[in-house]
Amino acid sequence: MRRPMISGNWKMYKNNQEAVRFVQDLVDKLGAVTGVDIVVCPSFTALSEVGEALEGSNIMLGAQDVFWTAEGAYTGEVSPHMLASAGVEYVIVGHSERRGRFGTWPADWPEELRSVFGDNDVTVNWKARAALEAGLTPIICCGETIDERRAGSTDAVVRDQINAAVEGITANDTHSLVFAYEPVWAIGTGEVCDADEANRVLGLIRALLRDRFGTVGDELRILYGGSVKPDNIEGLMQQSEIDGGLVGGASLETDKFVPLVEAAQRIRGEKT
Ligand code: PGA
Repeated sequence: MRRPMISGNWKMYKNNQEAVRFVQDLVDKLGAVTGVDIVVCPSFTALSEVGEALEGSNIMLGAQDVFWTAEGAYTGEVSPHMLASAGVEYVIVGHSERRGRFGTWPADWPEELRSVFGDNDVTVNWKARAALEAGLTPIICCGETIDERRAGSTDAVVRDQINAAVEGITANDTHSLVFAYEPVWAIGTGEVCDADEANRVLGLIRALLRDRFGTVGDELRILYGGSVKPDNIEGLMQQSEIDGGLVGGASLETDKFVPLVEAAQRIRGEKT
């Protein structure tokens, strides 16, 4: 049985003081939860302090991005080894925002900025491999834009992104891989993907992973992300393929994040 996971992607929110206060509150409220992997992903600058505040708790530390070499003259980048030394266990790789695929492009940003964060299928693969080599678990993201969905290319987009992301990764590495299907049009919009449809796409990802990794593919967790909220988590968690959520907005407030973890425990945790 795959252990459910609720992972909070804080994006560019919470300074160090806010971050530490927030996780202290989470530790109080979620300390007794078992059977669910709980992860928070603060910004780089808050990782160490949040990691210290989480020590000895059942909440794990994740980062939102990583570079693909151990060290070097790469101004502004953070290596997987640096993350590991800060106590990080998980790292989000290939989030659509890092691929420059936003649901809504800010009107005052010129189009040239679309590639400013730089992720593409090649860098996502390199980042995932580098994370694994450093002992981190990558949370590899994929998902289609609204135009791609309307054009009927959802399955092809997801298939291509997943195949590219796992290129060169062997079954030996796969005990520590997590995937997240996040339709771009559902991120931050309040418009959650229908649970049945999310489950269908996750089934497609599962089939790809089985093809590539054999039975190990059945053990890898696949999360759904995109407007996960307390009022839709139950329907999502009841789906056979959905092993949890990668959560943005609702991970920033205790009274939203705690019910997500509790629902995951209630619906899936009891079976682990
Ligand atoms: P959201 O973000 O929950 O705010 O839609 C999800 C994500 O981007 O990971």
